[in-house]
Amino acid sequence: MSRRIAVILGGRSSENPISLASAASVIEALEGTGNEVVTVQIDRAGRWQLGTGTKAIEAAGRLPGKEVATTLSGVDVVFPVLHGPFGEDGTVQGLLELANVPYVGAGVLGSALCMDKDLFKAVLRDHGVPVTENVTLRPGDAPRNPFGYPCFVKPARLGSSVGITKAHDEDELARGVALAFEHDEKVLVERFVSGVEVEVGVLGNLEPTASLPGEIVVTRNEWYDFEAKYDEGEMDLVIPARITPEQVERAQELAVRAFVATDCEGMARADLFVRDDGEVLVNELNTIPGFTSTSVYARLFEASGIPYAELLDRLAELAVERFERRRNLVY
Ligand SMILES: Nc1ncnc2c1ncn2[C@@H]1O[C@H](COP(=O)(O)OP(=O)(O)OP(=O)(O)O)[C@@H](O)[C@H]1O
Ligand SMILES: [Mg+2]
Repeated sequence: MSRRIAVILGGRSSENPISLASAASVIEALEGTGNEVVTVQIDRAGRWQLGTGTKAIEAAGRLPGKEVATTLSGVDVVFPVLHGPFGEDGTVQGLLELANVPYVGAGVLGSALCMDKDLFKAVLRDHGVPVTENVTLRPGDAPRNPFGYPCFVKPARLGSSVGITKAHDEDELARGVALAFEHDEKVLVERFVSGVEVEVGVLGNLEPTASLPGEIVVTRNEWYDFEAKYDEGEMDLVIPARITPEQVERAQELAVRAFVATDCEGMARADLFVRDDGEVLVNELNTIPGFTSTSVYARLFEASGIPYAELLDRLAELAVERFERRRNLVY
């Protein structure tokens, strides 16, 4: 079905260039299947700019001006293709709720919850979903690691492995904590999980389904860091993951349970570990995963029988479906 779709791209976070790459792919595929695409681009300073397809046509003010509001509320669906803070974290979703327009992906709460690795895991623990162990540090707290080495140190609310350290000793822990605090006011120290890293795509609203799991194989670096994620040839995605059929089923079950428990809708990519002893743990959910046609999320669904263009169409449909469903609620 052809629609008028606004793609929001760019954004204030360091993942801005990744968003631009995702959005270029999304726009091309949407236009290729007959949709009309307008763009709303946010730059790193937070300025909003309107455009058609890939061309910027009009500069707007620092805050979304009248033209942006008119554009966003005048389309059939909005697709926020923004990664990280100020886009994947519920902030833009809040604006779209206020504009009363259907949009792709998780709502305000699901987005915010999945962005915060600390609260995300607290909710999953409450739902009996196994997650990686961590302690949480606040500004002023001394570095602390009850898990032994190596351990992982991360800012609570970021992505693309930015600000993350695999610490092998006390000194690296201290430096890792200081680095993570440059990015966030909340820092996680996590127990290192030795095992296979797998990712599962989730698609749907109230009855989501899981893709085949893919296995992340890092070819050069020690772990799946920024370089391994975005440099050519640094990572192999093996689909399906080389795990037992029971582990496949468990990974898919946990991905869907995590999606439902955190109020996600539309899409998410679940990152999991299959530990050496066979236990499956959820690491995190990404509510707006990397979205080029060769990104992990797209490749997982391609291998599961849903090609890229169809995936985009389903996401737009799910956005409208949620909007229509919630329209009947009495507030
Ligand atoms: N507890 C852990 N044990 C072992 N490896 C870990 C652990 N935590 C993170 N890693 C490694 O670090 C990578 C990045 O961690 P994580 O997925 O939490 O960060 P992110 O920046 O939010 O990633 P994304 O780009 O998926 O949003 C993982 O893919 C994995 O390779
Ligand atoms: Mg991850």
